Amino acid sequence: MTTFPDGPEIALPAGDVTVGVVRVGDTVRRPYQDSSPRVAAYLRHLERVGFDGAPRYLGRDSQGRDVLTYLDGRVPGDPVEPWAARDDVLPGVARLLRRLHDASAGYAPPARSVVPGRPQPLLPEGEPRIVAQRDVTPQNTVFRGDAAWGLIDFDLSDWTTRSVDLANTAMHWVPLCDPVDRPAVYDGLEPGPRLRLLLDAYGRDAVGAEQLLHAAELRFAGSYRSMHWSAVHLGGGWARMWAQGVGDVIERRIAWFARVRDRLHSDLQ
Ligand SMILES: Nc1ncnc2c1ncn2[C@@H]1O[C@H](COP(=O)(O)OP(=O)(O)O)[C@@H](O)[C@H]1O
Ligand SMILES: [Mg+2]
Repeated sequence: MTTFPDGPEIALPAGDVTVGVVRVGDTVRRPYQDSSPRVAAYLRHLERVGFDGAPRYLGRDSQGRDVLTYLDGRVPGDPVEPWAARDDVLPGVARLLRRLHDASAGYAPPARSVVPGRPQPLLPEGEPRIVAQRDVTPQNTVFRGDAAWGLIDFDLSDWTTRSVDLANTAMHWVPLCDPVDRPAVYDGLEPGPRLRLLLDAYGRDAVGAEQLLHAAELRFAGSYRSMHWSAVHLGGGWARMWAQGVGDVIERRIAWFARVRDRLHSDLQ
């Protein structure tokens, strides 16, 4: 069994959900969770196929915590800083996502028991399923210089499709939300051209414009159901986000998207 040296623990910026993520030397220690074995298996797969934009899973330390490599670089804060809100970071984010998806094709995670009542993601008919990280937020993306090169926080990794995961990434990075919910750093933002930057860099050979818009609708509808379920059944950070009104944000997003869908469609042509 590998032992990992203890050392000074450096607090990392708090995410929304996981309490107690710290850095020790060139490793990150995360509390062991139900998702840990699946995350470990996926990260091992990514290592095997040579995908270098994810932490390596190293094992568990003497306190039982997951040990991962620390990815050195800049991670945007919440709300994002002006540099991370610029248009020119978007193509790199989409190319990173494409590389992750290409590296994940053919991978199947270990089976797990289905939790009764837990909403399953809504996925489009007829599109191949892949496993992906499914939470490409700015706060889960590591930059070197101005280029996105790494993803962290694989807790939500699971089955999805290319179009749904690209829509989810766009939701966080464009961002796709009602203008009243947009942080001030995005004032004056045009969502269509930013969505186009993501789609073009991801590659229209793999996802088409209409496919992406349909995937966004499925994703937004699914997120209301799953966030509500997690708030009620998992509590913690999920319940906190729900109490802070995330359900209302999702409902406003769905209504806004229906209003601007035609406009987005022509922006993507
Ligand atoms: N492997 C890593 N390399 C570099 N930074 C990390 C790593 N893991 C976590 N962090 C930092 O810690 C923050 C919180 O960790 P994260 O795993 O995203 O927890 P949460 O589930 O709460 O979002 C991240 O936003 C990032 O700044
Ligand atoms: Mg995170």
